[in-house]
Amino acid sequence: ARVVVLVSGTGSNLQALIDAATDPAYGVQVVAVGADRHGARALERAVRHGIPTFVCRVPDHRDRQAWDAALAEQIGAHTPDLVVSAGFMKILGEAVLSAHTVVNTHPALLPAFPGAHAVADALAYGVRVTGCTAHLVDSGVDTGPILEQVAVPVEDGDTPESLHERIKTVERSMLVDVVGRLARHGHTLTDRKVTIP
Ligand code: GRF
Repeated sequence: ARVVVLVSGTGSNLQALIDAATDPAYGVQVVAVGADRHGARALERAVRHGIPTFVCRVPDHRDRQAWDAALAEQIGAHTPDLVVSAGFMKILGEAVLSAHTVVNTHPALLPAFPGAHAVADALAYGVRVTGCTAHLVDSGVDTGPILEQVAVPVEDGDTPESLHERIKTVERSMLVDVVGRLARHGHTLTDRKVTIP
């Protein structure tokens, strides 16, 4: 399956997908990497692996809707079967979502702690277990149908950074697993229940 990955940050999840995709049996070809800003380390990773990149910045467009339409066009140019939001820190709009199946990874056990500060929020709340969630993206903030979740214990003395690192180790293998299964088998969706045959 042709996969476009959207990124904003360091791209360790992207790297895990690129590494997995070196095995043809995995069934994924990362055909492009898109970012919402220049200079994301994730873009360097793509370049290093000879993967085409594009940048689509909100401030370069007259409003969010125009940005979303431009992003949909840039993604569409690579004719993906699947789009993966791997640390992409923007809410996607109708133009992208109506044209593509998008998978997002989130560093908490949704529906707990949605949003951009999930790890710090979970720690501040005092939960003893958190984790990560792979889900299909809908128009809400981290609200789409859940594909997979893995629990991660909070340890005494955790900081947001140490906890996030522990979550990310688990998150990368969860994402690699889910994206591979979707790429190889597709999915059906009934009443928020996702089935991967
Ligand atoms: C991941 O934990 C993702 O869920 C969160 O940001 C992190 C991205 O990490 N939203 P990376 O850029 O893939 O290293």
